[in-house]
This record gives sequence, structure tokens and C-alpha cells, in this order.
Amino acid sequence: MVDERMPRFPQGFRWGAATAAFQIEGATTADGRGPSIWDTFTAEPGRVIDGSNAETAADSYRRWRDDIALLGELGATDYRFSISWPRVQPGGSGAANAAGLDHYERFVDALAEAGIAPLATLYHWDLPQPLEDAGGWLVRDTAERYAESVGLVLDRLGDRVGRWVTLNEPAMTTLEGYALGTQAPGRTLMLGALPTVHHQLLGHGLAVAAIRAASGTAEVGITNNHTLVVPASDEPADLVAAVAFDLVYNRIFIDPVLTGAYPDLSAFGLDAFPGLEPGDLDTIAAPLDFYGVNSYNPTYVAAPAEGSEFALAGLPFEPVGPPAGTPVTGFDWPVVPEAFTELLVSLRRDYGDALPPVVITENGASYVDEVVPGPDGEPAVHDVERIDYLDGHLRAVAAAIDRGVDVRGYFLWSLIDNFEWAQGYTQRFGLVHVDFETGERTRKDAFAWYRGVVADQRG
Ligand code: FCB
Repeated sequence: MVDERMPRFPQGFRWGAATAAFQIEGATTADGRGPSIWDTFTAEPGRVIDGSNAETAADSYRRWRDDIALLGELGATDYRFSISWPRVQPGGSGAANAAGLDHYERFVDALAEAGIAPLATLYHWDLPQPLEDAGGWLVRDTAERYAESVGLVLDRLGDRVGRWVTLNEPAMTTLEGYALGTQAPGRTLMLGALPTVHHQLLGHGLAVAAIRAASGTAEVGITNNHTLVVPASDEPADLVAAVAFDLVYNRIFIDPVLTGAYPDLSAFGLDAFPGLEPGDLDTIAAPLDFYGVNSYNPTYVAAPAEGSEFALAGLPFEPVGPPAGTPVTGFDWPVVPEAFTELLVSLRRDYGDALPPVVITENGASYVDEVVPGPDGEPAVHDVERIDYLDGHLRAVAAAIDRGVDVRGYFLWSLIDNFEWAQGYTQRFGLVHVDFETGERTRKDAFAWYRGVVADQRG
């Protein structure tokens, strides 16, 4: 399938891979790290599908040199990783934990030595537990605490890291963490979760200010996850449902950041955004250097079926499966590369010049990967479907660039297999297979494929 040459990406395009601290590091009590909401969540029976936790994960807190070697071998220009707040400021307030910062300083210095540019995410879901105990993202103070922690990181790493992502996917924190309860902190507040949107975005705005104050040259962006919302049919009820879903999944997280206003939420019976105070939107809409997009698949949406949990919760939509015959990943996510192009083109169409240059901060796929003996007896993983997914989605990015979207980089999720949140170790997204018993890393076929693409593109 993958035989036609990949279209040429623009000169200077960034080629990277992505990970997140909680998913790869393990060592959850090392060097003074405090507990996060994900340590608490994974310890509660029934929360994680395979009953696992991230105490070891991919063991990257100890094996980080191996990870950098893999990036070097890949020819990556950049690496997106996250800095664990509970390592840097274990209780979520007060003084910095020097040992935690030492770790990241060593790490970014070694990345620089390998010629790989860091893109550091300042919050990838691991809220210090004491802050959750004080109300978490439901309370305004958490935004202030977050900006303070960002200041501590910048004090130490501001001279070494040139690009920062403030938040990763605030939508998932709100929707899965506080509304549905399928991710940490596991609250089931439905529309009562909306204040967490505003407090996260306020935290983002305050963090942008803290980063600008600490460095005159730093580049800053946010990472939102977006999905192309596809109505399940042409029926008016499904069209209305799709608009409502788009509002809560996409627009409440992007509109305030790029346009300084929340969309109209009267469809949800709201006339003002919960938590909003005068002046907040100016903080939230601070100019950005890039806009991070995570996207994996489109979402098909219908009017809620009578008696469904969505209808019972008073929600005006219900996500449904893709059209029959659509291929899916190991996660059952539909594989529709054209939808990725449409999504990117729609961002450009809807936000125009308010949309900063786009960086794809995550895209990738999980499949059931088996380690088998390779031709030379060495372990191998023949992940043909992943290569197909990645090939299709990179071409989809190229098509969006062709149609006028300014995309500057692509970060493949993920460099290595890791702890996939509530799915535990059941979903493998890595270019590199990780044996979670031994920590052993095995390059999958997709690793060589991506290395080839990057080499060809970098010329
Ligand atoms: C995204 C998360 C990332 C990873 C991928 C599969 O929602 O940002 O941590 O779990 O999904």
C-alpha cells in the first residue's frame, strides 16, 4: 500500500515524536515526587481496565538515555515530552523540588547534545493530589497554582527549552475527568464540569504570561485535541446534535483562546460561561506562537437515543459508531485520513488569521503488536496497520498544507509503548515496543518506516 512517495513537506518542517511523563516515567515516588490524581485514580479498583498502574510504566525516569538514543536513531528533529508537576512541586504549591528539576535539566541537556529540540508540555494531566483535594480544576485557585509552577520550571529551564506547550487536551480533563468520570479524577458532574474548562484556560493564559515574563524568546502554544464532527445522517435532529457536540468537544476550548470569546451555549441552557470573571478572556486570548493540534479520528454524532445515558443526562447528542466497513484501530477508533485533512482545513476556514501556525502535537494509532522472531532471529514487530495509518495521516497533513493550512510540524504519538491511562497497558501506540515486565525496547517496523520518511524529507 505504502509505495507512492510521500509528498514533500515544506522546508524546515519539524519531525518529532511525543510522550507524556505519567505514561512513560514510572518511579512515582523517586526524588521527592508527590502523588498526582492519576496515582490516586489508578489505585482505585475498577478504574483501569487491566487493573494496572504506572509505578513502572516504560521506566523512562531511569532509562531516559535509551529514549534519547532512539530519537537520535530516528533522525527526529524534535521531541515532545511533559514535565511532571508533582516532581517539580510535589504538593502543588510552595517551593520547587530541586531533585525533580535536576532530572529534567539533565534530560534537556542530553537532548541538546543529541541535536534534538525540546517541546516541553507543562501539564499533561498529572495534577498534584493536594490540589484536587482542594477542588482541582473546579476552583479558580488551581489556575494560579499552575501558573506559579510554570514559573518554577521556567526559572530553571527557561534558558534551555525554547518551546512550550501549556496544557495538553483540556477537553479530556473536563469531559472524561470531571464530566463522565472515565479518567482522573473520576468525577461524574456532567454539565457541572464546565468550570474546569474556564479554570484550565485561565491557567493557560496565566502560564503564557509567566513564560513571556521569564523569556523574551520562548515560543508558546496550547495543545487542544480536535475531532471532525460528522453528523450520523442528514436528519435535522442529527445535524443539530452534531453542532452541539462540536461546541463542547471543540469550540469551548479553542474559541476563547483564539477569539477571546466563548461560543453561545444557549443550546445547553447557559447564558454565561461558568467561572468567567471580567478580564479573564483577555488573559486567555494572549497571542500564541503556534497552535498544537492532537487528532486521531473523526466522531460520528446522532441525536440521543431515547433512554440512552446521554438522553438521561440531558445531553443533546450521542456519539455513535462509524459507517459500516470503516477500518478501526485497536482502540476501535475509525481510521479516516481524509477527515484529518478536513479538520485542519476547517480550523483555517473558521479562525482565519486568528489561527497561529499549526503543529500536530499528537497523531498515531494503537494496534495489537506481537513480538516475533525476525529474519535474523532478533525480535521484531510487523505493525503493517500502524504504518498504513501513519502513512495515510501524513499524506492527509500534506493535503491540508496544499489547501493553505500553515502546518509546521508533526509529532507522532508515541515514541514508545506506554501506560495508556484508563486502558492501562492494553493499547500500544509506540514506534518501539516495550516489554512492561523487563523494560526491554524492540523497534517495530513502523520505526524504520518513520526513520525513512524523516530521512527522505530532511534530505
Ligand atoms: C491523547 C493523550 C495522550 C495519549 C493519546 C493516545 O488523548 O494526550 O496522552 O494517551 O491520546
